[in-house]
This record gives sequence, structure tokens and C-alpha cells, in this order.
Amino acid sequence: MEITVEASPNFALTKYWGKSGERVPKTFAAIPATPSIGITVAGISSLCRINLGNPSEPDSIMVNGIRLPPDEKCAADVIVSTLRRITGFKESVHIDSFNSFPTAAGAASSSSGMAAIAFGLAHLLNVPGDILTVTELAQAGSVSAARATCGGFVHLPAEATEGAETIYSQNHWETLRIVLCITSREQKIVSSRNAMQLSQETSPIFSVWKNQASRHTEEILRAITTRDLELLGTISERNAFLMHATTMTSSPSVLFWNAGTLTVINTIQKLRKAGICAWCTIDAGPQVKVICESSDLNKVLEALRDTPLLLETIPLSVGGGPRITAPVCYRNHLITPS
Ligand code: PMV
Repeated sequence: MEITVEASPNFALTKYWGKSGERVPKTFAAIPATPSIGITVAGISSLCRINLGNPSEPDSIMVNGIRLPPDEKCAADVIVSTLRRITGFKESVHIDSFNSFPTAAGAASSSSGMAAIAFGLAHLLNVPGDILTVTELAQAGSVSAARATCGGFVHLPAEATEGAETIYSQNHWETLRIVLCITSREQKIVSSRNAMQLSQETSPIFSVWKNQASRHTEEILRAITTRDLELLGTISERNAFLMHATTMTSSPSVLFWNAGTLTVINTIQKLRKAGICAWCTIDAGPQVKVICESSDLNKVLEALRDTPLLLETIPLSVGGGPRITAPVCYRNHLITPS
């Protein structure tokens, strides 16, 4: 039995950063300390082929043609073992996953990769929604993946057992654009999981971050409802900078940014001074996501073209959740989806 799934990453506008300490009873998934709202994008994706094999074989997980780095393998393993525990299925699982964008580099590849795995396995095994939903299963592997199992604008509450939910579909704000600015293709040195834990345990401003997070999420919700780009951009940028302030003030300090991150931020701040509406958000890595309207996209791309240390820009729009697709293969090896 085989299935191929394509899923796109979900970029957080307000971030999940910290754990509540509680676990979802059914899946033991982490419950976030802060609510988050993210956008599932269109334009980049993880393509994931899953085979079920003989129960006597060990599971195998490949990413971009090679074995996963330990962190991500661990997240995929958690999804598989959670599903085994809940449904009792016996077959071995063989996962071959390919990302069309940098992996484990702060571009939310784990959200799309884990969403694709959860969606594919739940479909292959025909798991009824009242036993386990795709969102619940994905959250067991990675909290942000729960958001990537839903299309459009997605909310994930904190300190509650409620799962991620689409609050507005992908058609709600068709002119919204997110430009993914790649400033490094290297994998990050510290995983989100470890940096988050360090921030929570050692940053003197973690409580400030946690207190602000709910207000930011309410404001982002209002900005999405009214399609208010200025409010959306201002709060997303503030939320991202506050999250990064917790990592910089951790002990030891974690700095996810590189020199290219700063040159992109600088370009966007200059654009705003010149009256062009664009804002930055940054996840646990050096890549910057620039938020703007389609009417300003060309001006934003032009300014980014002249920005030093920026390797690539990828304009994205709001997209849908995971979908079953045909594998894209060359000599039977999965390759980058277009
Ligand atoms: O769910 P994880 O372990 O991939 O952590 C996600 C952390 C951030 O990307 C920084 C924030 C978020 O909400 O996606």
C-alpha cells in the first residue's frame, strides 16, 4: 500500500514558543504555552511518499534522498509510534520525503513534512476521525505541523486540548503575499525544540513574551478578519522580534540570525520609510518572511534584489492543506515537487 502527499508549510504570524507543561491525553502531544496563528502557504511544499511493508522490517525514513537528521527523524518516529499505539497497526512504515525549499533551516519544513506524514498515514490506514484526527496526530510530531494540516489562516490555542483549526480559508485574503527570503541553506545548529526549552527555562524576559503572546494573537485575528495589512505586519514583526529576544537572552544565548537576516530587515525598514507597506517575520532560523500586498510585490522584490547576502527570494500566497498527489520521481527516486 502506497500514498503520496503534498503539504505546504505553515508560517507563524504569532509564534508557538514554549510549552504549557501539559500533554494532550490521547496523543501525549505537547500543548503550547502561547497561542499561535499561522498561514499555510502556496508555492513551496514537502512531497512525501509512504509505503506500508512487512511487519518484520524496520521502519525507514528518508528526507531529500538521505536519512533524516536526528531531530526530524525523531518527530516522524513519534507520529508512527503514536499511531501504532492508538490503532494497533502492525505494518512497517517507509517514508520518502522531499522538500522544495531548505530543510531544518527555519523555513518551517518540519511543519509541512510532519503534516504530510500524518495526513498520509491516517489516509493509508483509514483512521476514523473520532479515533484520531490528522491534526491531533501531526501535533504529536511537531506542534507547528498541526497548523500545516489545515489550509488558509490557522489558529492553534494554548494551554488547552483544542487542536488547530482554519479560521479563514485560503480565499479570504487572496492579495496577501509572503516573500520567503533565503539567507542560508545550512541546517540550523540549535533545534527549535532545544532553543524553546532554553528560552523558557533561562530567559529573564520569557514571562514578558508569554504575557504579550495572547494579546498579539487577538490583534492578528482582528487584522486577518478585517484584512488590515498594517496591523497584521506590525504585530507579526513585534511578535517575532520578542520571540527572538527570548532566545538572545537565554543562557547560553541562541542567535538564529545571520548577517543576511539583518540586511533583509534593513531593506524592509527602509521600504516602510519610503511608504511601501512590508513587514518581517522570522521563525527559528535565519530566513526572513516578508509580508506585503500583491500590489507592492514587485517593489518589494526589486528592493530585495539589491540586498546583500540574500541568496534567493520566493514569493508565496495563502494556500490549502495537505493533498494526495502523484509521486514526482526520477528513476524511482522522489524528487523536488515543482
Ligand atoms: O513545532 P516546532 O517544533 O517546529 O516549532 C515551531 C517554532 C516556530 O516555528 C518558531 C514557531 C511556530 O509557531 O511555528
